[in-house]
Amino acid sequence: MSSVSAQNMINTAQLFEQMTESGYAFSEQLLQTAAAPFSEKTLPLWGIEHAAKLARTSSATIRRIEAAGKLPPPARNELNRRVYDLEAVNRIRAQVGTLFQRPIGSRPIRVISANLKGGTGKTTTAVHLAQYLALRGLRVLLVDTDPQGSTTNSFGLLPDIHVSETETLAPALIESNLEHALELARKAIRKTYWHQLDLIASQLNMVSVDGELTLKSGADKIHRLRDLLDELEANYDVVVVDVPPALGLLSINAIVAADYLLVPMVPNMPDIASSIQYFSILSTIADHMSLAGMNILITRYETGPHTDAAASLIKAIYGVNVLNNVMLSTRELSKSAHDLRSIYEIDKPHGSRETYLRALNSMNAVNDEIFCKIQQIWDQQALLASESPAEVNHG
Ligand SMILES: Nc1ncnc2c1ncn2[C@@H]1O[C@H](COP(=O)(O)OP(=O)(O)OP(=O)(O)O)[C@@H](O)[C@H]1O
Ligand SMILES: [Mg+2]
Repeated sequence: MSSVSAQNMINTAQLFEQMTESGYAFSEQLLQTAAAPFSEKTLPLWGIEHAAKLARTSSATIRRIEAAGKLPPPARNELNRRVYDLEAVNRIRAQVGTLFQRPIGSRPIRVISANLKGGTGKTTTAVHLAQYLALRGLRVLLVDTDPQGSTTNSFGLLPDIHVSETETLAPALIESNLEHALELARKAIRKTYWHQLDLIASQLNMVSVDGELTLKSGADKIHRLRDLLDELEANYDVVVVDVPPALGLLSINAIVAADYLLVPMVPNMPDIASSIQYFSILSTIADHMSLAGMNILITRYETGPHTDAAASLIKAIYGVNVLNNVMLSTRELSKSAHDLRSIYEIDKPHGSRETYLRALNSMNAVNDEIFCKIQQIWDQQALLASESPAEVNHG
């Protein structure tokens, strides 16, 4: 290297040291001023009419069972009106017989939201699906395996500030002894402000997991997450896993563990091209998968000739594997990531009520359709179990 170019070189070590220092100083500030961690984040409360709608009953029935002392006295807002949170709604459901129950003989479903490409809406899909299912009264475990920690973040947690290394799945994925790994994984489960929605958070240390998994031998390399979920899922109806935009061993662990693979896909040419590669790679590990369902979800859909053409192309290529409903690109959703509030957590629309309802309806339609797919899988499992009871215990 010539002396001229050597002189022109920046002091890289110094540059990154300075940047790291500034970053840490900023984190310290955030710690003081950041949005409260989720232990302090709460959901909006609902009035009696909305609670009745969620519980699939009438407000008169709720009043009647409250008066009969079968439910605790309801909370009241500043106007002395009855208000209900999700836990209260689930108590009403239990009383009126509408509390969700999986068919006998079915087992928990693992939904993995994955795509090789970045920014396709994997996290948005995973978080909203988990919350939608919790709203329906299901018991949900949401697992963040992405070192970026976007899912973790959307619950009001700053990955590297509110979440320590031991509070992620990393130690359990790396630990050689499965029994010990299970203990570590159980410790990483945390309750959230969503009733019956638990979270395994993530932070930057998950980056090292891919490398560590490479060192493992045999089945543990790609089956460790599946083995952990086999045990952890017992207390849940659905486990939703958000994965990083990569095809390292961490993502492969998640895909291999999936009952239902959900591939969020943006309708544009580069994403379609990347999907062809993705499915081709998945075909090479197909022997290790045991999928009961797989669907592509068109995300960030905007009306317009280019998007329409790309969406039609996705449907032409992948046919029945594409969900009928699309997730619209909405300002509410892009704002919700920024404000750390999902569509289901917003109590006041960001813009017009019409825009908000359009975003909410699109999200509900997508999640309704996915829930139907999950129920179909449960029905099949239940049928199989009734025909050959011995099969039930095998996950
Ligand atoms: N339907 C939508 N409408 C508007 N904005 C959206 C929509 N879906 C996702 N976004 C925004 O796009 C960004 C990327 O979305 P998201 O984080 O869900 O993608 P991802 O696939 O998980 O990304 P990564 O590959 O980095 O994990 C976020 O800022 C999110 O708010
Ligand atoms: Mg993501």
